[in-house]
Amino acid sequence: MALKRNVLADDEKNMGIIAVYPGSFDPITNGHIDVIKRATMMFDRVCVAVARNVEKTPLFTVGERVALVRSSVRGIRKVTVDEFDGLLVRYVRRKKATVVVRGLRAVSDFEYEFQMALMNRKLDRHVETIFLMPKNDYTFLSSRLVKEIAVLGGDVSQLVPPMVEKAMHRKFAGRLRD
Ligand code: PNS
Repeated sequence: MALKRNVLADDEKNMGIIAVYPGSFDPITNGHIDVIKRATMMFDRVCVAVARNVEKTPLFTVGERVALVRSSVRGIRKVTVDEFDGLLVRYVRRKKATVVVRGLRAVSDFEYEFQMALMNRKLDRHVETIFLMPKNDYTFLSSRLVKEIAVLGGDVSQLVPPMVEKAMHRKFAGRLRD
């Protein structure tokens, strides 16, 4: 399937291929940033889409997650940051995108990702999912582990941008005071 739709409205013609990189980003990690950079080498625009309603209770509000993503990707060309609610494929269509980018770290990610990609294809056959593998150093990295390490006072400075580290410290200090 062509990544570029065959029939494009006039204002879409010069936009090139737009990719959406969706996720909870609770919080964004260096692994996510690595995937974003790789995606910008392949697509004309990469829209990082922070899911408003994630199933698990997030540590950060959607506003906080968006702000942390924005400051983490400042300076990376072609990237925009947004939040979304509801079906991903609807959001992708609204953005006039044709590609969903997901990071694939290990075989353990595969089953969930495969299921989601095929379901999104079922919902909209024009949406193609591509998987990008982060740098080896980040294959073990996840937002969940980063939070677990941070709450226990471990060093996460190599795993997340400095502002994310500070935000986590503030969050956990606040929780400990409560
Ligand atoms: O970072 P995550 O938590 O793995 O991201 C999952 C996310 C937000 C991409 C996924 O849950 C999603 O797309 N949610 C939107 C709702 C939707 O479209 N569900 C059907 C997907 S098959």
